[in-house]
Amino acid sequence: RDITVVEHPLVQHKLTQMRRKETPTPEFRRLARELSLLLAYEVTRDIPLENVAIETPVSPMNAPEVAGRKLCLVSILRAGNGILEGMLDLIPHARVGHVGLYRDPETLRPVEYYFKVPELLEDRLTIVCDPMLATGHTAAAAVTKLKERGAANIKFLCLLAAPEGVEVLRTAHDDVPIYAAALDEQLNDDGFIVPGLGDAGDRIYG
Ligand code: PRP
Repeated sequence: RDITVVEHPLVQHKLTQMRRKETPTPEFRRLARELSLLLAYEVTRDIPLENVAIETPVSPMNAPEVAGRKLCLVSILRAGNGILEGMLDLIPHARVGHVGLYRDPETLRPVEYYFKVPELLEDRLTIVCDPMLATGHTAAAAVTKLKERGAANIKFLCLLAAPEGVEVLRTAHDDVPIYAAALDEQLNDDGFIVPGLGDAGDRIYG
């Protein structure tokens, strides 16, 4: 399957509130955070556990904990930060990377302006976060850079995906599972997802 669409009712409800054009910035930002928390739950569903010896106030026991190195969340600036906050609510110990990419309005191609990620990416699950997978070139470029830094286990998480973006990311990196709250119909000539929710960065930050 090319993309996992998280069908949970709360996810779908919150996404609809985000899509409404009258939803103001503070509300939009809060919804992005809540929605991301729910998506984080789904995207981490298959991370491995290991049993460790602990003591409850009553008795010793073996209990499951997340195994291995702390995972890494990568925010594609700037709108990815709107997703990152909710992810960190659920995974507070995660390491965080930032990738600055903006889309040239003429060519719709990503331009890099910042790249800072944690060490030892090869040993971490790396979750790349960006609200929108539109043409897919931003996501593909970010994943390429992360692989150059050693990341070998990468997932991509967005709120909304366009079929064109899914195709581009899948073709460039078929080992990267894609998670979204919805798969929309198409892109328009300006590279916006239709029906979409508008410009996520502008709606989060004004
Ligand atoms: C948006 C969005 C993605 C990118 C998606 O960012 O947040 O990063 O466009 O487009 P693509 O799939 O066609 O490459 P934008 O360039 O608006 O920057 P911003 O987040 O800083 O506002």
